[in-house]
Amino acid sequence: MFFAASLALPLVWFIARFIVNRKRSDIRYAPGPSAKSASWIWGHELEAFRGQALEVYSKWMYTYGPLFKINAAFFHNDIIVVGDHAAVQHIFADIFTYMKGPSLRPITANIVGKGVLWAEGEDHVFQRRLLSPAFTLESVKKMADVISECAEKVQCLFTWLEWKFDQGKTFAGFLGPVVIRAFPSIVSLSLKSQNNTAGLSTAQIIDNISTFIMAGHETTGGALNFALMELARSSRVQQKLRREVQQFRDALSYDAIQKLEYLDAVTKEVLRLHPSVPHTERVAMRDDIIPLATPIRMRNGTVLTSFKVQKGQVFHIPLMTMNTNPKVWGEDAGEFQPERWLTPNAIRPSNELPHGWSNMVTFTDGPRLCIGYRLALFEFKVILATLSRSLEFHSTDATVNRKDILTLQPVVDGKCGVLPLRLTLASHT
Ligand SMILES: *[C@@H]1O[C@H](CO)[C@@H](O)[C@H](O)[C@H]1NC(C)=O
Ligand SMILES: *[C@@H]1O[C@H](CO)[C@@H](O)[C@H](O)[C@H]1NC(C)=O
Ligand SMILES: *[C@@H]1O[C@H](CO)[C@@H](O)[C@H](O)[C@H]1NC(C)=O
Repeated sequence: MFFAASLALPLVWFIARFIVNRKRSDIRYAPGPSAKSASWIWGHELEAFRGQALEVYSKWMYTYGPLFKINAAFFHNDIIVVGDHAAVQHIFADIFTYMKGPSLRPITANIVGKGVLWAEGEDHVFQRRLLSPAFTLESVKKMADVISECAEKVQCLFTWLEWKFDQGKTFAGFLGPVVIRAFPSIVSLSLKSQNNTAGLSTAQIIDNISTFIMAGHETTGGALNFALMELARSSRVQQKLRREVQQFRDALSYDAIQKLEYLDAVTKEVLRLHPSVPHTERVAMRDDIIPLATPIRMRNGTVLTSFKVQKGQVFHIPLMTMNTNPKVWGEDAGEFQPERWLTPNAIRPSNELPHGWSNMVTFTDGPRLCIGYRLALFEFKVILATLSRSLEFHSTDATVNRKDILTLQPVVDGKCGVLPLRLTLASHT
């Protein structure tokens, strides 16, 4: 008797919890790919990972709308994939309710240490406050001179290597990361320009260095790779960009760079199509109601304008999908068209686009908006300007696949991080 009761009680509790939980969350009737199409062990997660970066999420978002659920691997509760602008803005704005997923945190800790990318809540606010003086507009302008000097050295190097490039060599390597390695890291820059590292232990400094190498160099280098790929594919864009940057023969100062309109449009277009971090994850730390910019039709026919979630809910936020959704950016959303940023009304008003830098979620948004975005943009632009005024980029016939491996990586012939490119010296006009 006692034995039976001890079995029955947990069962009753389990069923009661299930019923109560169902009321606390709207996930039950959320749209999404059929559970039958999911693998027993991997849920829908393997299918999403197998394709090109974010391709499957983009397809599903087109089919099911900007909020849908998928089956998680290892029998975890269903995951919500959310690209609705209001919902994502809400999630990014509240760093105390929405924290990085437990699946992402150990990986982040391993790769970049327990730094500002890893920290949550109060710890994150504290670290961010200590680091932010290094990333203000003023600080970036101070660093800009050092960066421009490096860019000039790189350009000298190219002239020096003229005879090599003249042969039209194919570079099977990452030109972006190689060039960016010639640049000082944010750590050495900020150590030089101010003393905001006082009182940190060696371990803390090492943690911070790996954060900035990973978050700064790796991502900017990757984005440069894709920029060169796009320029190689479009000689029209490449020539237009070269004409603009060749007008500036002096050092590319911070203010000079800001004046280059077409360079800015090319930069935005590269970061829209090839965000260095293609998706991110969050977990709800308490029950919440998430606002929706676009109402969603549930499987039971109800239309919801906000969505109830319960504590522990995992979210995938497909940044790349949000940047390239044809329902938001138009039918040519997947094409490299820098002109869209310069043509009046070519993109929708900002309240109909995602919330974030230039209406994209490339740097995410809210209190965790990439702390180094100004520096990253400047570095990206200086290097792209320097490279494209001296060199011409030509496509090879290699097929470039893109994979989401925490950061966006080109994959050619099964090799990761390799992007073949043919270079020749550009003629000066
Ligand atoms: C349909 O689903 C919504 C959202 O979970 C819920 O509020 C509503 O009560 C459901 N309607 C029916 C008839 O089950
Ligand atoms: C970096 O510095 C902060 C303080 O600025 C410290 O709390 C943290 O542990 C250090 N590590 C990383 C990676 O940020
Ligand atoms: C460095 O710290 C000292 C004392 O802590 C302060 O007086 C000085 O202004 C700081 N320098 C910079 C560049 O912030």
